[in-house]
Parts: sequence; structure tokens; C-alpha cells
Amino acid sequence: MEGIQVVIKGEGTFSLKRGENVLSVLSEDKQEAMNGCAGNGTCGKCAVRFIMGAPLPTATDRKFFSPSALREGYRLACSARPQQNCIVEFIFEEEKIEIVDQVAFKGEEPEEPLGGQMNSLVMVRVSPADYGDTMVVVDLGTTTIVMQLVEIETGRVIDTYKTLNPQRRFGADVVTRMQKALGGDEQLLAECVQYCLDGEINKWLYAGFSPELIVVAGNTCMTYFYNEIDVTELSKAPFEATRLGRIETDIAHIRTVFLPGLSAFVGGDITAGLLAAIRKRREEKSDAKGKGGKFSLFVDLGTNGEIALIGEDKIWATATSAGPAFEGGANANTPGSDMVKIIATLLSKNMIDETGLFSEEFFNSGVTVDGVLIRQEDVRSVQVAKAAVYAGIRVLMDRAGVRADQIEHVYLAGGFGYYLDVESACRIGLLPAQLEDKTVAVGNTSLAGSLDYGLQYRKNPFSDPAADIIKKVECINLAQVYEFEKLYIDAMNLTKA
Ligand code: FES
Repeated sequence: MEGIQVVIKGEGTFSLKRGENVLSVLSEDKQEAMNGCAGNGTCGKCAVRFIMGAPLPTATDRKFFSPSALREGYRLACSARPQQNCIVEFIFEEEKIEIVDQVAFKGEEPEEPLGGQMNSLVMVRVSPADYGDTMVVVDLGTTTIVMQLVEIETGRVIDTYKTLNPQRRFGADVVTRMQKALGGDEQLLAECVQYCLDGEINKWLYAGFSPELIVVAGNTCMTYFYNEIDVTELSKAPFEATRLGRIETDIAHIRTVFLPGLSAFVGGDITAGLLAAIRKRREEKSDAKGKGGKFSLFVDLGTNGEIALIGEDKIWATATSAGPAFEGGANANTPGSDMVKIIATLLSKNMIDETGLFSEEFFNSGVTVDGVLIRQEDVRSVQVAKAAVYAGIRVLMDRAGVRADQIEHVYLAGGFGYYLDVESACRIGLLPAQLEDKTVAVGNTSLAGSLDYGLQYRKNPFSDPAADIIKKVECINLAQVYEFEKLYIDAMNLTKA
């Protein structure tokens, strides 16, 4: 079947062209019942929930739904334009969820639904005969692994597979895993993730697909583990990467390429992010008839805050340790993006002050928000993380000699950026306030950049699609930047910056 398949529970399966919204597939009667503003995104009557294949939230979605609701898949049907096969359920009026300016404090839930199973091939009937040539792109993350089977000609995502990285049993972070590797577990670390990728590729092969290429984006450590490269030099000062060029290998007998890294701290996942961000920057510039701004900021926040400032002729990149705060670790029951919004709200209600201290009334007890206890240490954990990220941004701007008003776009990548309320992020000083209106969530740039890389690579395997980035980039090790510590300490307060 041509187009993107949309299964609407209780209604049937529909085929959508790229760019069409979900509301448009319904009968006129149904559209009328759900549509209170002619699809202008102002009434909120067309709320739906994506059970699978949710598109990126739009700015309008963010007005109507809390980060938790967005994470659960809630979107406005009039603005939801799926990029892949999906399953949608409509919501009855009385079930509609908390709206607009309320802070939604939801309980325990994973950052992403991680089923560890094939999605659309099981839930939506697809046949390889409906698709042209395919490739697989892989985001090989420290915490999660995401794989997509993509049609090369159109970029259509045929299937997505997500799972937790099985290396987690050796430790949550790369430092612990490197210690395990150096202690003799390097083979186990490599094999558990090799089996994971191999198994999923084989399922696609079994379903009749024959991907011609696999492109993998991982941080330097993940790339080393998979390819069984010694991590000794990565694990000790001065933290040098012995190998950064792209790696060509095969998985399940399919040609496979790991994106080149840029330094020990700035890996192939950021090379992919930069490819995706530069493409977006180019598109926006051409939309604006060449009047784009001079600089763009790319920010990917997870356990590490990876940041790059992109200019025409030069790119400055760095990574800063944000700790667990942005990956749900500040409070195990509350994802990091929600914590940012909670803290901004507590600030505006004077329940905490700008130094992050709870007011007397809550000093000992903390504050319970929708059943989740927010303690002093939760606030501290976010303060530490946001100070590191803000200081990292400032170091790059200072190094490049760039003012905030010269930055035209801020691309927020990854799951955290996907759900982040930017106003709250600026309110607590995670991002410079002058950049608030310039910020856009760009989703999983490891996957998007891997696809860009793969499309160019298959045309000419002898040239490196990331060569221009590698030529322009200057990687900055914050541990060697004298001003970083001062900027970091100054950024600890919860003030607009
Ligand atoms: S129809 Fe009104 S918000 Fe979608």
C-alpha cells in the first residue's frame, strides 16, 4: 500500500500522504464533531493519542499538553503529520487531559516506551513489496538503542525498534563500563550489543526486507565497545581517542558503517547530530532566501550535555557532564524535562528561592506534586546539571566570539529536548533567555544524521560525508578551560541568564 499507514482504533486503516494530518482521513461528520476551530490549533477538540509512531510535537501541541502527556503520545489531530506508520486512538471529550498552562505532574513512567519488540511490522500489515530499497539506521546510545528500517527513496520509516542497551547490566554510565571492560569483560560488553543489533536485523531479513546498508551513530565509547577497540586511552587522562575515523564492518552480512567521531568526548552521535542540524540550518536559510543568521546552536541533553555552535566556516563542539538529572535521575519518578518545569513553577510560586532552597514551610518536608515528592537534592541535581550546560554554552560562545543575538536557531535534540518546556528552561537559566524564541526540538538527530550520512555514502563510499564537519570542528575539553569553573559556579542560581 502506498503512503503512510494510519490505523485508527475503531475506524480502520487509512493511507496518508507525507504532510497530511490525521484529522483529514476522517469522514466529514467525524471531522466536524472533532474540529472546533477549523484546524487552527486553538480549540483542542481534536486531541488524539498515538499508541505507536507519534510524530514530533508541534508548538501548538506543547501549549495544550504537558510534557508527560506528550510523552504518552497525545497530539492534536489537526496538526499531527505522521512520518511513519502509526496507531492512533481518539479521545472522548471527558477523557481529555490537563491543558495549557497547568504543570502536569505525572507519576512514574519511562522516558520512552521501550517495548523491545518490532512495532509496525506486527501491528500494521506491511509487505516488502510495497517498498523500494531500504537501509537501517541505528542510534547506539549509552542508555537506549533505537533502530529504524527506512525506505531509501522516500525516507519513509517502515519500522522502528527501541530497547534498553543490554550493556546496562555492566553499569549505567560509560565510566563504569570502561572499568568493567578493562577488568576483563570487554568481550561480554561487545557481544551483548552485537547480538542485540544482529537479532533485530535478522527479524527484518526474515520479514523479507533486504537492507542494503546499516549506518550506526554512537558515542565514542559505544563505538569502541561494539567494535572491540581497546578503551584504555579513553579511560584515563588526557582522555585521548586512538581511533576516530569511520569504521566499516558488516552486521548479518550487510555492509555497515559507524559514523566517525570528533574526539574522545564528542562521538559519532554528535557527527550525526551536526549533519542533521546543518541540513536543517541550510533548509531554513533557503526558506529565508539566504537571510539565515550566522550561527546555530545544537544541544543534545542526556547524561552528557553535548553542545555545538555552528558557524559558516567553523564549528565549536564540547560535552559536559550533566549527571543523571536530565535522564530522569534527579528524581526517579519524574523525567528530567518535567523536573525543569516543576522547578520553574516552584520558583514562580516562591516555594523555592533563586539559590534553590525550599522556603521555610517546605524546608524539611520537600513538596509533593501529584504524588511525587520533590526533595532538596532533586532541585540541587537539576541546578548542577543546568549550570554545567549553561556554562558549556557560554564557553563555546566566548571561544567563537559570538553574542546571543547572533544565534539564529537553537536545535534541541533527543528525548529531553523533545519534551522540554523552553520557557521553563530559560526561567531557571538552563538556556540563555535571549534564545527562548529561537529554540526548536529536532527529535532524534542520531537517526536523522545517520540517514543523511548513509544516503551520501551509498552514492560514493570513497568519500566521507562528514569530511566537511571534521575539517571545521574544534573540540573543546572543558576540563582544560580556565573560565569554565567560574561560569559554572555563577550559573548555579535559578535565575534567567
Ligand atoms: S481542530 Fe481545533 S485544535 Fe485541532
